[in-house]
Amino acid sequence: MDEESKLEEKLSKWRKSRVISFGDDEEAPGEAAEEDILRLKPKEVSRAPIETLPTRVSSFDKLIKDGGLERGSTTLVTGGCGTGKTTFCLQSIYHGALAGEKGIFISFEEEPHKVKKHMVKNYGWDFDALERQGMVAIVKFDPTKIARSVEGRLAEKTGSLRIKFRKMELPFVPDRIAIDSLSALSIGFEAEENYRKYLRELFETLEYNNSVNLVIGETEQDPQLYSRTGVEEFLADGVVVLYNMKTDKRRENALELLKLRSCAHEKRMVAYRLGNKGFDISYTGGNY
Ligand SMILES: Nc1ncnc2c1ncn2[C@@H]1O[C@H](COP(=O)(O)OP(=O)(O)OP(=O)(O)O)[C@@H](O)[C@H]1O
Ligand SMILES: [Mg+2]
Repeated sequence: MDEESKLEEKLSKWRKSRVISFGDDEEAPGEAAEEDILRLKPKEVSRAPIETLPTRVSSFDKLIKDGGLERGSTTLVTGGCGTGKTTFCLQSIYHGALAGEKGIFISFEEEPHKVKKHMVKNYGWDFDALERQGMVAIVKFDPTKIARSVEGRLAEKTGSLRIKFRKMELPFVPDRIAIDSLSALSIGFEAEENYRKYLRELFETLEYNNSVNLVIGETEQDPQLYSRTGVEEFLADGVVVLYNMKTDKRRENALELLKLRSCAHEKRMVAYRLGNKGFDISYTGGNY
């Protein structure tokens, strides 16, 4: 047997010993996605040169050497209740839309009309107008339905766990996607293990898009853990933590760019306030 055949035989054995998906939407029947060890994306999905998109949230981009977040990356925006997680994501989508970048906001909690009502009332951001122009879409998904279907598929052990998100009827190709929130999604799952499996798929699917993705997590007011399961911050390419710190008589907000894989960034906490234009981040530095 020549070298080439030997190698082929070796590879063929190896292939049989594992379930490998090459990133196709559907897996062959009988191949349980949960057993996937390796996923390789076909060439055509490897994207054009990575491009950085500013978040356009106050002076947040100054915290990042490259001046923004990479397309195809996913950043976890996490913090205690009322710290401004939803505002951060929608501020990015709103200002992005004004600059000609399209955004999709996926809500697992609030109804879209309520989200829009709050945004126009609190910050004067008219998402209805942007939706009419086809620049933005605010949609709601029922997390329990997603959880049920994922858990059903996992129980069957036949179908693909690969969510249909990639095939989801998006009204346009988005430059930004925000998901509010992973905590709401996780609650829908009976078993945390299933949520984790789904989470991995979700991150992978988001990465497949060429968009800048923001996913919201929730923590305690004084976080010890940055997400519900502790897995989210490892899967994410970036982590932004919003703090609501107790001082003598009041609470002060500060944010921290805890992690960013793409480039150097500010490591210190930076004060911010929520005002009638959304986030107001006091930062002039660039000492990273
Ligand atoms: N115009 C405004 N000026 C100052 N603060 C505001 C204004 N509008 C909203 N806020 C504050 O923003 C906070 C809510 O922001 P947001 O809903 O984005 O937070 P969140 O972290 O998503 O909250 P939750 O945990 O409930 O999802 C509230 O504390 C609210 O008081
Ligand atoms: Mg919120």
